[in-house]
Amino acid sequence: MAMDLRIVLLGAPGAGKGTQAQRIAEAKGLPHISTGDIFRAHLRDGTDLGKQVQAFMAEGKLVPDELTCDIVAQRLGETDCSHGYILDGFPRSVPQAENLERLLTAQGDRIDIAVSIDVDDDAIVERLSARRSCPKCGAIYNLRFSPPKQDNVCDRPECGGAELVQREDDQEDTIRERLRVYHETTEPIVAFYDERGLLSTVAATPLSPEEVFKEIESILARTVGA
Ligand code: AP5
Ligand code: MG
Ligand code: ZN
Repeated sequence: MAMDLRIVLLGAPGAGKGTQAQRIAEAKGLPHISTGDIFRAHLRDGTDLGKQVQAFMAEGKLVPDELTCDIVAQRLGETDCSHGYILDGFPRSVPQAENLERLLTAQGDRIDIAVSIDVDDDAIVERLSARRSCPKCGAIYNLRFSPPKQDNVCDRPECGGAELVQREDDQEDTIRERLRVYHETTEPIVAFYDERGLLSTVAATPLSPEEVFKEIESILARTVGA
């Protein structure tokens, strides 16, 4: 059986966390847990949680820590998470990182590695303005850097020609606000994982998604033997 592996992906909005998490999930057979995706599913379904998070997300602000940590604790308790997972977009503040650490310590587990995908702010604005995704399977595209084969349509045959959509928070002023929040509230957790000897960094600005993935694979092989 495969080894237990708990990975945290760090990086600014648009750094490529989702893109890489999808690849790692496929390569390692681990669940991909994106708090942003969970919240967006609730928004779409119009649940109570969706109503609670709507305004925060639309403004590029963080959803309150307590609410977020509850959702994550619940998700990590599901059976597919028992041998590990890839966390994408969580933790996103020092209190969230501490909360996760307490949760894992209580069950005798720990985060094995945090990989920070570092991309310059200017490149991020360019990437996010051109991002599109499939509403059916969640595949991530970019009109400039990784376009679908057919204009604005998901590549996967299973999606039956689904039209790609743009995220509401991918407008330039919201992107700037998300970046501001990232630098102020999320970036300090890079030091949190560094202090624990768990941090690896990919200087990803000039790299293609494929090149970033290769670096992450070699980091995982080197650090946790996965
Ligand atoms: P979330 O959904 O997590 O958004 P985010 O952190 O802003 O990150 P993104 O999903 O925008 O970027 P990504 O790093 O996944 O990049 P991607 O791979 O898509 O969160 C949304 C909101 O939910 C938050 O603002 C907040 O309100 C709330 N929330 C979520 N988690 C929370 C938490 N823990 N606490 C509180 N609130 C929370 O790539 C981006 C684009 O670039 C794509 O088009 C892609 O094709 C392209 N691309 C990727 N890699 C490359 C490359 N190497 N070269 C060129 N293009 C590339
Ligand atoms: Mg994402
Ligand atoms: Zn699709």
